[in-house]
Amino acid sequence: MTTKVIDNKQTKKILEKFEGKKGSLIPILQAVQEKYGYLPEDILRQVSTKTGIPTSQIFGVTTFYAQFRLQPRGKHTVRVCHGTACHVSGAEQLSEAIEFELGIKDKETTEDRLFTLESVACLGCCSLAPVMVVGEHTYGRCSPDKAAKILRKVRKEEGKE
Ligand code: FES
Repeated sequence: MTTKVIDNKQTKKILEKFEGKKGSLIPILQAVQEKYGYLPEDILRQVSTKTGIPTSQIFGVTTFYAQFRLQPRGKHTVRVCHGTACHVSGAEQLSEAIEFELGIKDKETTEDRLFTLESVACLGCCSLAPVMVVGEHTYGRCSPDKAAKILRKVRKEEGKE
């Protein structure tokens, strides 16, 4: 994976700030993610070169902690609840329909960077199961058809039909 958004000056600044400080890998990764919205692979390699921390260790940390993202996020995050109530109410079929509609799998982002799909645990509104959340909007009793319509509407509103 390569990225075209790398600003080496910014990365250098981040690395200088933490230079020589023990236990600074996580704060460095947090700062990089804050800057780019995710952790570009090229930047992680620079972090490895500058800090002497092996890339395997850096990638290990990025995959262990849920807060880190190795892929860019879409403008809209689509969350599908897979808690117990939603699971028994058809969350699996809902996710399948959304994956089909967006052409991506869980945790992926569409090529146009409009949507990122995430399966999540209980969202706390079980009486509305199954639940899909797009950005700030919660859609309860969301059938596969309803989800597809909602996503098409968002796409249309974004001028990306
Ligand atoms: S199980 Fe889905 S909102 Fe609680």
